[in-house]
This record gives sequence, structure tokens and C-alpha cells, in this order.
Amino acid sequence: MKPANRTFIISGGVSGLGLATARNLRAAGAYVSLLDLNSTAGDEVVKELGERARFFETDVADTESIAAAVKGTLEWTKQTGAAIRGVVAGAGVGLPGLIIDKKNEPLSLSSLDLVLNINLRGTLDLIRQSLPYITTATPEGPDGERGVLIMISSSAAFDGQMGQVAYAASKGAVASLTLPLARDLSKYGIRVVTIAPSLFESNMTKMMGPKVRLGLERVMEFPKRAGQPEEFARLVRECVENQMLNGTVLRLDGAMRMPSKL
Ligand SMILES: NC(=O)c1ccc[n+]([C@@H]2O[C@H](COP(=O)([O-])OP(=O)(O)OC[C@H]3O[C@@H](n4cnc5c(N)ncnc54)[C@H](O)[C@@H]3O)[C@@H](O)[C@H]2O)c1
Repeated sequence: MKPANRTFIISGGVSGLGLATARNLRAAGAYVSLLDLNSTAGDEVVKELGERARFFETDVADTESIAAAVKGTLEWTKQTGAAIRGVVAGAGVGLPGLIIDKKNEPLSLSSLDLVLNINLRGTLDLIRQSLPYITTATPEGPDGERGVLIMISSSAAFDGQMGQVAYAASKGAVASLTLPLARDLSKYGIRVVTIAPSLFESNMTKMMGPKVRLGLERVMEFPKRAGQPEEFARLVRECVENQMLNGTVLRLDGAMRMPSKL
């Protein structure tokens, strides 16, 4: 589907990969509804993107917060006439922790819950709550397409490193639910694609120490550098536009396979 004059809900949409996606889809004429915890960045991004962008302060780990943002988006679509046709579930966190640390303390349940609640439950809950508005949208084109859902997994889904049990569990789950989600939704003409990036420039990866960062770049095959958020956004755009992309996980990783540790 062409993004123009359609509304896309983007969680984590005011930073990194989500922000690049919002810029790309907005430039293609889409309306973008940005859901994020960070309201300071949200206000700035709406100023930058203009009338076709709205920000909703949202915690994707809180189902009521998602409900309010989806409701707000729906009200907005009534003014614009641009139906909700897509969700890009980009909100995510990484919280490293060994399953058992040097003091013989097992990983805390609170850190496990935090990562799973944002990366996995938050992704599914946003999709779940947005779907009733996409399944009832008018089918378009010769194939009767109604919408597209894009999720973000990670290289850690396949080659998670030491200290990434929680993160890898969340991203592996996102990768494995892609096909059943696509199968559930095929009768509505709604596609599902997951992108699994390796190292990309963003606020999340800015927090890495130079040793980790250089170590990861060293194990890239080609190109030997972190990906740019715009390169990620270009693939999102292709996922929106190319109807044959469905039920699959696309690695976007410069052939990087992460080693056990750096
Ligand atoms: N950058 C990478 O190298 C990389 C690699 C693989 C996967 N990813 C995944 O890509 C996604 C985007 O990450 P990024 O690198 O752009 O990071 P980022 O930190 O720049 O952006 C993440 C955004 O999510 C928001 N967020 C965090 N918790 C939230 C919550 N509970 N509710 C709503 N918003 C919340 C943050 O405020 C932030 O704006 C994440 O799911 C991340 O796991 C990133």
C-alpha cells in the first residue's frame, strides 16, 4: 500500500529507528501518530513534522495508556479522513543482566518483567488494540488490502550475547509470533512483517561503552559500521509498499552474527 493519506501508529516514534520511520512515512504523505514516553522529544518531533503528526504520551507497558493513545488517534482520523492502516511497534528497551551474576544472585524478576512488558507485551497490546480499526477499514486495490503491521525484533533473537537473556527472549518471541499473526490476519488483508536489525545508530546504542560499540562493529561483515536509522526506515517503507512481504522476519544486519561476548 502507498503510505500517502493513511495513518500509521508508531510506538517509540520520537527517537532512533521509530523517528526515522516517522520522517520517512511523513515524507511519503502519511499521517503519523507517535506514541512514546518521552514528551519533550514528542513536542519537538511534532514541530518538525507539522500538521500530519500527532504525539500521544504513552507507556506501552500500560494497557490503559495504549487505549487512550489509540482513542486519540481515532479521533484525529475523524478530522483528517485518513484511516488507521498501519502500526510500527518500535518502543523497546535493552537491560543487560546475566542470568546469575558474580555474586551468585539470579536475574531479578523485576528486570525480566520490565523488558518483556515493554518489548513483547507492549508490542502485542498495541497491535491488539489497534486491530479493530484496521480490520474494519475499507479494503483497497485488487487484493483487498486493509493494512500492515511492522514489528522490531533484533539480531539478539538469533544470536543473543551473554547478558541478553531477557532481551533475546523478548525479541525472539516477537520474531516467532510474526507468522501466526500473519496467518490470523490474512483473511482481513492485513500483512505482518518483522525487521531484525543488528547495530544501528540510536539513543539506545549511544549508551554503549566504546569497547562494546567497537567490538560490535568489528564483527560486522560489510559494511563495517553501524546502520543508519534512515536505512532501517527505507526497509519499513518497502514493507508498507510491497504486498508480497508477509509473515516473515527480515534481518537487516550487514551479515553480522554476534559472538558470545565481545
Ligand atoms: N538500535 C539498534 O541497534 C537496535 C538493534 C536491534 C533492535 N532494536 C530495537 O529497535 C527498537 C527501537 O530502538 P532504538 O534503537 O531506536 O532506540 P531508542 O532508544 O532511540 O528509541 C526507543 C524509543 O522507545 C521509547 N520507549 C521506551 N520504553 C517505552 C515505553 N514503555 N512506552 C513507550 N515508549 C517507550 C523511548 O522513549 C524511545 O523514544 C527497539 O525495539 C529496539 O529494541 C534496536
